[in-house]
Amino acid sequence: MNIGQQQFRTIWPLIQEEGGHALHRVAIIDQTALPHEWRIVTLDSVQQMADAIRRMQVRGAPLIGAAAAYGMALASRHSASDGNLQAAASCLLASRPTAVNLRWAVERMMRKMTAVAEPLRCEHAWREAAQIADEDVRINQAIGRHGLALLQALAADRPRRLNILTHCNAGWLATVDWGTALAPVYAAFDAGMDVHVWVDETRPRNQGASLTAWELQRHGVPYTVVCDNAGGRLMQQGKVDCVIVGADRVTRTGDVCNKIGTYLKALAAADNGVPFYAAVPTPTIDWQIADAKDIPIEERDADEIHMVAGRAENGCTARVRVTPEGSAAANPAFDVTPARLVTSVITEHGCYAPGRLGDILQIVDATINPITSNH
Ligand code: MRU
Repeated sequence: MNIGQQQFRTIWPLIQEEGGHALHRVAIIDQTALPHEWRIVTLDSVQQMADAIRRMQVRGAPLIGAAAAYGMALASRHSASDGNLQAAASCLLASRPTAVNLRWAVERMMRKMTAVAEPLRCEHAWREAAQIADEDVRINQAIGRHGLALLQALAADRPRRLNILTHCNAGWLATVDWGTALAPVYAAFDAGMDVHVWVDETRPRNQGASLTAWELQRHGVPYTVVCDNAGGRLMQQGKVDCVIVGADRVTRTGDVCNKIGTYLKALAAADNGVPFYAAVPTPTIDWQIADAKDIPIEERDADEIHMVAGRAENGCTARVRVTPEGSAAANPAFDVTPARLVTSVITEHGCYAPGRLGDILQIVDATINPITSNH
C-alpha cells in the first residue's frame, strides 16, 4: 500500500547491525495509533509479538497469522530447541483465540522448523515467515481479481455508482497487503469502476471508522462512514448493491465467523435481496470444524464497551467513558453468519457457494494449507 509516496506492508523483517552481528527484528504499523498517528513499532521477542497481537497493534486474521509466523522466527533467535519453540507456540496461541490463521501459521512454522536440525532452524524460520507474508499478498490479489468479476457483473445491471457495504476492517491493514474484503474494491477502483463504500463504524473498537476509512481515503476510494445500525435502513432504500466482509474463521460447512455485527448485516441483506459475500483466504478455513458452535469466540475486556478512544477538539488523543460507572458490559468480539445467509465465498481459488467449500480441497496445496485432521 502506498503511504506518503512510499510502499508499505503492514509487517516486515528488519536486519540491524549490533555489536558486529546482524540482528533480526520485526517492524509493524501500530494500528492502535491510527488514524491520528502513524507509528511504526519494532518488536524483539515472541513475548512482544504476542502482546502486540493481544493489544491489537496488529490485528485482522491474515495479519495475525503472519505476525505469529514472525513471532516464531523471533523466538528461534534465542534458542530453537524443541522446548523453546513449543513455549513460543503456546505463548502465541494464547494471544487471540478466534482467528484460525494464528494456529495455521504456528503449526506450519513448527513443522518447518522441527524438520531440520536445531542450528538450521532460525534461518528456516525467517525464510518461512517471509514466505507466509508473500503468500498472503498473492492470495489477496487473487481474491481481488475474483471479487472484481462479481462487482463487474453487478455493475453491468446498474448503470450508476456501485455501493458496497463492509463491516470492520478487512482491508490491507488486516492483512500483509491488499486486504480480503477490500481487495475487490481496490481492484474495481483501480480498473476505473465507479465504486463507493459504506463503512460500518464497528463498535466497540471502531475498526471501520478508524482503519477502513483511513485506508480507503489513502487509496482515494469514495466512502461514507455510517453507524453500525444504519446498514438495514440503507438496504431498504436500495442504497447497497452488495455486502462484502472478511472472516476470522470459516467452518468447512461454510459458516462465517467475523467481527461482531456481521450476522445482523447478513440478516438485513437476506431480507432485502442484497448479495452477501465473504472474502476468505484458505488459511482462514478451519477444515477441522463443521459445527460453528465449536468456534472459540473471543470475549474482550468490558472496558472496550465502556470507553471510546479518539482525538479531542484540542488535538490530543483521549479515552472517554460512555456508560454510567458501575454498569455491567459484555464484549463478545465475533459472531457467526450461517452459510445459508452467505451468497458466495470469494477465495483465492475462485468463488464458491458456502456449501461447496470442500471442493477447494481438491486443488489446495497441502504444504501451503495443510489439513490436520479428518475432513
Ligand atoms: O478484532 P479484529 O480487528 O482483529 O477483527 C478483524 C475482523 O473481524 C476482520 O473482518 C477479519 O479478521 C478479516 S481480516 C481480512
